[in-house]
Amino acid sequence: VGLPEFPSERPSGRPFSLPAGYYELLQRKVSEVFNRGTSEPAWLVAGYDAYKSCVGDVARFSNETTRPGYPNISASIGRFSANFMSKADPPRHSAMRRAVAAEFSVRRMETLRQRVTEIVENLASGMRAQGSPGDLYNDFAVKIPNYVICEMLGVAASSRDDVHRLVTTFMQFDPGRTEERTRSLEQEYEQFVAALVDRKRADPADDIVSRLVADPTPTLTDHDRHSIIAELINGGFDSTAGAIAIGIVLLLEHPDQFEALRNDRRLVRQTAEEIVRFASITTTGRRRTATEPTELAGCPIKAGDGVIAMEIIANRDPDVFEDPDEFNIFRSNARSHLGYGWGPHMCVGAPLARLELDVVLNVVCDAFPTLRLDVPVADLRFRSQSVLYSPEAIPVSW
Ligand code: HEM
Repeated sequence: VGLPEFPSERPSGRPFSLPAGYYELLQRKVSEVFNRGTSEPAWLVAGYDAYKSCVGDVARFSNETTRPGYPNISASIGRFSANFMSKADPPRHSAMRRAVAAEFSVRRMETLRQRVTEIVENLASGMRAQGSPGDLYNDFAVKIPNYVICEMLGVAASSRDDVHRLVTTFMQFDPGRTEERTRSLEQEYEQFVAALVDRKRADPADDIVSRLVADPTPTLTDHDRHSIIAELINGGFDSTAGAIAIGIVLLLEHPDQFEALRNDRRLVRQTAEEIVRFASITTTGRRRTATEPTELAGCPIKAGDGVIAMEIIANRDPDVFEDPDEFNIFRSNARSHLGYGWGPHMCVGAPLARLELDVVLNVVCDAFPTLRLDVPVADLRFRSQSVLYSPEAIPVSW
């Protein structure tokens, strides 16, 4: 009673500002909120250092959604993601992560650069061929991570649209969706993964799923392998699409910075980091349960208390980032952001997201020198009831 409700909506007309109440949470670093997903109180971790202490310590703070007190986002998302590696504690988490970490290493990503560039250039040419105006989100940004992850996993091009539909529906915590509809979606998703695994067992190829199903590691069950695949389909998609789309909008909103980037591509890397810091895509944060009586930023926490660590708020911590509410590609410490998380669960796909952003920024600078938004930023519409903050469309001309 009387606790601030979490999550809350962004201020209308200012899609890249955090909800006003989040700044109070930031000042307090750690405080109690009312978690809408469970209608229970939870600890909200907003300060930068407190965020790291929390998500960096998997012994004190468990990821398992099945623990009593776990602060779910919604019942359906909790159930669906329960077996993901992001919701596992060691040793299960370590075994799952080890099975795919090399697939996303920085070195492996360099071998993909040329293919990712081809994909992005083809999509840009496709948009140009259709002619101005276009939709930078649906015709471009969404397709990039979709095409890339489908190829990496060995999903047929004809199934890309199914993947897109399944993932985006799952990431919404639509309160109006019936239980029956949710269950049928879950089944469809599971069947999709099972069919993919069967196909790769029968006819292995040079892709992640084939390697994973052939991996004899006894520490992984087939169920774990399915969960890894389901999470890779899911994790690499809406997040990266949102970063690409919002990143380009931010550059369009700051034409002097866009111009500087066009003229000096050495800025691409830090621009990609500043985009992930500022775009605040992961709206619902890291969900954990305290395993023992402990404290965070001096705040006493009981065993079994739910904790929500918010990188999108910590990324605006003025103790770490000067003028944190400014988008600034020249920021020297942009890479210290927590947009990919922190600690043992830090985004395993971050090197891929970085590669995609790197390629996209270069291609957009070259292919669309006169790119402009067709509507004011304030009129862009975003899917707010979603784990990931993503636009519905981005109307542009060039
Ligand atoms: C800009 C794009 C992305 C953002 C902002 C992002 C964000 C995050 C964050 C914050 C976490 C931490 C989860 C936690 O601590 O509970 C995470 C984990 C994860 N991400 Fe990403 N991600 C992005 C792209 C990707 C890509 C491209 C993939 C790969 C296909 C991916 C796959 C995963 C997986 C599998 C995990 C779980 C890792 C673990 O628990 O050990 N993500 N991501």
